[in-house]
Amino acid sequence: MSRTYVVTGSASGIGQATTNLLVKLGHTVIGVDRSHANIVADLSTADGRNELVDAVAKLTDTVDGLICAAGLALDAPVTAQVNYYGTLATLIGLRPFLANSAAPRAVVLASVAVLFDADADLLGAFEEYDEAAAIVRAEAITDQPGAIYSTSKRAVARWVKRHAPTSEWAGAGIALNAIAPGMVMTPMISEQIKLPEVRRAMLERVPMPLNGIAEADDIARALAWFAGPENTHITGQIIYIDGGAEASLRGVGTL
Ligand code: NAI
Repeated sequence: MSRTYVVTGSASGIGQATTNLLVKLGHTVIGVDRSHANIVADLSTADGRNELVDAVAKLTDTVDGLICAAGLALDAPVTAQVNYYGTLATLIGLRPFLANSAAPRAVVLASVAVLFDADADLLGAFEEYDEAAAIVRAEAITDQPGAIYSTSKRAVARWVKRHAPTSEWAGAGIALNAIAPGMVMTPMISEQIKLPEVRRAMLERVPMPLNGIAEADDIARALAWFAGPENTHITGQIIYIDGGAEASLRGVGTL
């Protein structure tokens, strides 16, 4: 059965691979990105987020699957704005469209970086939903490589865990999960990883004993499943697609 999907970050990397796969499977995909997309919207701004919802409303009243892949990994406040506030605005804004589907599913891209240190003040601003405070705090920690990124991903993952079982999501039949990839060969990391010393350091931080660094298509297949009707009972999960990175780093963890 053909479904309608919205994919943010559809112009590159994981979002693009997922879009291509879903189209190949016969589904309709509404791609969203800063350019080269059905809906051109800048998810770092409130206006762009509203434009996304308004534009979807012009195209459909039902979204069967939502994949939030738009993201940045810059040591700059815009990373907080896109990864956290852009993602949440997309989820919240499109939830009513999902609620109209017979088998609605939403998946967001977190990261194995949810396991790394988070900045407590930035996490606090995210959880208060205070974007102005988050920008101020992010500006203050731009000298800490990866801190804004890992904190934004942890905050998104926590939001998913908190909201998935509620009446608005599970109660409306909407499965809501976060996929946490390890390293994936996309434009987000492909330039840095060409440098052997950077590659070595990154693989030390994110060890991937099973099959090494993933390709975007490897993540797309999982996203298509989690956003598809076969997923009837998995919700509120952080699913690591990381070649064993989480297991290597955390061991038995909180089990
Ligand atoms: P990518 O850089 O290839 O694609 C990200 C897309 O998001 C781009 O098309 C970009 O234009 C879009 N985007 C960025 N800012 C935007 C904005 N303000 N408004 C609208 N769209 C915007 O990166 P990739 O790897 O495909 O990343 C997809 C998701 O996966 C991201 O959330 C990323 O954090 C996550 N991820 C990626 C990993 C990797 O190693 N590549 C590892 C773990 C998570």
